[in-house]
Amino acid sequence: MTEKLEVYKCEICGNIVEVLHEGKGQLVCCGQPMKLLEGKTEEQGKEKHLPVVEKTEKGIKVKVGSVPHPMEEKHYIEWIEVVTDTGVMRKFLKAGDKPEAEFETKDRIVQVREYCSIHGLWTAKQ
Ligand SMILES: [Fe+2]
Repeated sequence: MTEKLEVYKCEICGNIVEVLHEGKGQLVCCGQPMKLLEGKTEEQGKEKHLPVVEKTEKGIKVKVGSVPHPMEEKHYIEWIEVVTDTGVMRKFLKAGDKPEAEFETKDRIVQVREYCSIHGLWTAKQ
C-alpha cells in the first residue's frame, strides 16, 4: 500500500499533494487537473538528484545525491521522504541546509524520494 502514495502538482499555483488513500476522482486545482509527478530515476542531473541511502546505527541517512545538490534560495531540495513497508517519514529542508536527512527506522525501506524546487520529484527504489 505504501508503494503508491502518488504525488500531484498544480502547474498553475504550485500546490503539491500526496495521496494518502486512493479514490476514483480526479484531483483538480485552479480549475484544471493536477499533474501526476512520476519520480525521475534517470535523467540529466541524476548524480545531484537521486537520493543515496546509507545505513546508520539507528536507521538511515539520505543524501541528495552522490554529488551534493545546491541549497540556494531559488534552487534547493524542499523535502526528503522515506517510504517504508509500514509508513512514511519526511523532512523539510530550506536553503542553506545540507541536502541530507537522517531517519530513525528499523522498517524495510521501499523507496526514497526528494523534491527539487526546480527539477521536481526523484525516486530511488530500494
Ligand atoms: Fe535541482
